[in-house]
Parts: sequence; C-alpha cells; structure tokens
Amino acid sequence: MTSGQRANSFAARIVAWQRTHGRHDLPWQNTRDAYRIWLSEIMLQQTQVTTVLPYYERFLQRFPDVLSLAAASEDDVLALWAGLGYYSRARNLHRAAQQVVTQHGGRFPADVDALAALPGVGRSTAAAIAAFAYDVVAPILDGNVKRVLARHAAVDGFPGASTVEKKLWQIASERLPAQSADIVAYTQGLMDLGATVCTRGDPRCGGCPVAADCAAREQGRTAELPTARPAKALPERRQRYLLLRHSDDVLLVKRPAPGIWGGLWCLPEIGDDESALPALLRKRFGVNRIGDTRQLPDIVHTFTHFRLTLVITEVAVAGRTPVARDSGTVWLALADASGAALPKPISRLLISMSDAKRIA
Ligand code: ADE
Repeated sequence: MTSGQRANSFAARIVAWQRTHGRHDLPWQNTRDAYRIWLSEIMLQQTQVTTVLPYYERFLQRFPDVLSLAAASEDDVLALWAGLGYYSRARNLHRAAQQVVTQHGGRFPADVDALAALPGVGRSTAAAIAAFAYDVVAPILDGNVKRVLARHAAVDGFPGASTVEKKLWQIASERLPAQSADIVAYTQGLMDLGATVCTRGDPRCGGCPVAADCAAREQGRTAELPTARPAKALPERRQRYLLLRHSDDVLLVKRPAPGIWGGLWCLPEIGDDESALPALLRKRFGVNRIGDTRQLPDIVHTFTHFRLTLVITEVAVAGRTPVARDSGTVWLALADASGAALPKPISRLLISMSDAKRIA
C-alpha cells in the first residue's frame, strides 16, 4: 500500500465510522451557519460538550447572529459567558465578531488563514470552522486529535513540544480525505473518536475503526502515548536542622502557622554558620555540654512548588534540658514518633531511628 492509499483508507474508515457511530445531534451540527459553528468551537475549546449545551442555546437566543454580537456591550457578552470560565475567550469572541463585521462585511471568511487571524481562533479552530461551514479540506489538531494521531502513528514526545506538534500537524495533513464531500464527517469523526473511543485513560480499541493498523496498539503502548507533559523543574531550597538527642529522646519545636508544616512538631531550624552552634545551643536550648556530633544523610522532600533539602546535624547531649509546658518545645521519645504530628520526612527519619535502636 502506498502512503497515499494508507492515508485514504484511514480517512475512509473514520468517515464511515462517523456516519454510523459518531455524534449527529449536537446543536452545532446540521447547520452551515459559520457564526453558529464558530461560537460552538470557541465554547468547546476548553469546555466539555455537556457544559457548553445550555450556554450555547442561551447565547444564541440573545445574539442570534454576528451583527447582534458585534453591537453588544462587552459586559453583556461576559454576563452570558459567566460560569464557562476562561473569560479571555468571551472578550476575543466579541472582538472577533466586530472584525467580521468591519473587515469581512459580516460574513465569516472561508479561508483558513483569514479565520485564524480572528482573535481567539487558532489554526485548528479555523480549520474546523472552514470544514463544517464551507467544506474546506484542512487539518484540525486539538487535544483529542493529538491523542488519536500520536497513538495511531506511535509518535513519541509531549504533543505540546513544538517538534512533536509539527510532526502531528504533518500527519494530520497527510491523512485528510481526498473529497471535500467527506470533510465534515472526517473532521467530526476525529473529534468523536477522541472523545468517545480513543480516550485518555481507558481507550476502547475494540470499537475503533482504525485499530487494525494503530501502532500504539500493536506495540502495547496505548497507556504511555501520547507522552505526558514533562515535570517542571522545581526551585530548590536547603535548610539546616538540629537533631538534639538525649538517649532515645529528641527535641522538637512547634512550627508557626502559616508556613510550611504550620502547627506540626519539627526539628529546630538553624543557620548555616557552624561556629555559632555552641552559643545557639546554650542560649536557645540551655545545653552547655555537647557530646558526639554527626551529620545525617541529607533528606530531599518535594512540595508542590519547591524541593527542600533537609541538612540535619545530630548532637548528643548529656541530659534533657527542662522545657516548660506550652513553650512550643518538647522532648519526644523516638518510640512515640509514629503517633506524633510531625512532617512526613521527620516522621520517617525518627521512626527509622527508633527501629534501628530496637533492632540493635
Ligand atoms: N469539540 C470541539 N469541537 C467539537 C465539535 N464540533 N463537536 C463535538 N465536540 C467538539
């Protein structure tokens, strides 16, 4: 099979599947009114069909055509959008309606580039509008379609990365149907397949018209494709802590709230200056005689917004300095660590010390 034949057979199967198994009763289908199609595509950009439906009907009752929308106040447009979220969409919608009136005589252009020049209309949305309203054969590539194509062609890499996205656009272009009479069913079919069959978590390959030559399925990689967004590099922080130890007891301080671990009992934080340690021990904790001192292995703990390296110095002391009740300082027996309100990495450390002690 040539690549042209393969592409055609892909499109032919999507088209046939859409006609029998796809969605046909959505209110923006079965119309050729570019205004209604454009409005639906903008509303559907970051929002699910079921959420969009009531908003779409209400919006069209108030603004049945591009002229009425262009003439509205921005406040009125935003009021009808309230609850749909991503309000820049509503502001762009309003501006785009005004541009259609002033620059295109009130008629949405059929040209994909001209549509894509309207505020809020990207390349994929422009192609969808051109296909649904004017039978223009142009590729779409929204999030669902990226997933379908990344799986079918086994394209590795995060689809939001520009090189990967470029490759997916190329594949989307190569697979278009030859006949413009098929473009509505094809475009809707790709959307329907992504939304109902080739879903993110649990694709139903048994119901897929292009499963027979799906590379991800052949390779058993539907769960790993498309590649997930790479984890962001988190800011790094280091903080020194003091582990004052008397026999099997350790000294903890209550952390202030707000802040990380607010209200939990934690090892006391200390500064980086090693030479200041004896004075600090004397002043803050009433410790005059210092026993063995050792550095514990660093602990790395990840918060949602940063990564913290805990640098812990253990200092053995001859006696437990007295601490007042409610002073925000306690001596905790290692054996009680599992039941105390401690930050996770501190709790793990103390429990492992307690276990080591028990086994020794
Ligand atoms: N999501 C984006 N465009 C859509 C459409 N035309 N039908 C269903 N879901 C969509």
